[in-house]
Amino acid sequence: MSILHINSSARLEGSNSRIIGQYLVDKLDQPVISRDLVQQPLPPISAEDLMGVHGSSASERESLQAQLALSNALIDELRRSDTLVLATPIYNFGIPASLKQWVDAICRAGVSFKYTDQGPVGLLGVKRAIVVTASGGTPIGGDMDFASGYLEHICKFIGINEVYHITASGSKGKPEQLIASGKQQVDGLVATLAN
Ligand SMILES: Cc1cc2nc3c(=O)[nH]c(=O)nc-3n(C[C@H](O)[C@H](O)[C@H](O)COP(=O)(O)O)c2cc1C
Repeated sequence: MSILHINSSARLEGSNSRIIGQYLVDKLDQPVISRDLVQQPLPPISAEDLMGVHGSSASERESLQAQLALSNALIDELRRSDTLVLATPIYNFGIPASLKQWVDAICRAGVSFKYTDQGPVGLLGVKRAIVVTASGGTPIGGDMDFASGYLEHICKFIGINEVYHITASGSKGKPEQLIASGKQQVDGLVATLAN
């Protein structure tokens, strides 16, 4: 089993979510599948194909088949993982568009979740998710943070019930302090997970 490490910060250098997320992945010391949604963006999806992927349409349309194949591949990366590391900045109080596109590709009725009489049930067996959220002035976990709680909800929706958070808010302050705090949280979490 391995870690699926998702990066979504537009900053390739000096990104707090990337730096702290990489520190976490190194500490977990397991095989890693990396998916960088900025360096290798998912291809644009038409409105018609988005509807088709959402409904797992049986249409043979070529563009839809390509998008379904991509969605299957992204879900397969989750199936091959026991830990999901989601590294994200807060952009305008939510998640980056690139990460939202990934969420739209991996949430599929009958594939990653199913509807039951008791409501939706997740179908993926990923053991845990660790969400690394970086922001400027928006307090992570506060009322205006529509990123970290949303990602926790999505994880639970697809069946990942153990969700942990590493926070890195205050990017206008001293980066060394912010990174040190993030690494300290990671050290604490990895120690907890080892016990
Ligand atoms: C397009 C854009 C929108 C942003 N919106 C917010 C915001 O709503 N709240 C906030 O606290 N910071 C906001 N920021 C600042 C980033 O969240 C902050 O710099 C964070 O550290 C970025 O993550 P990174 O360090 O991994 O790149 C925004 C930055 C950008 C580029």
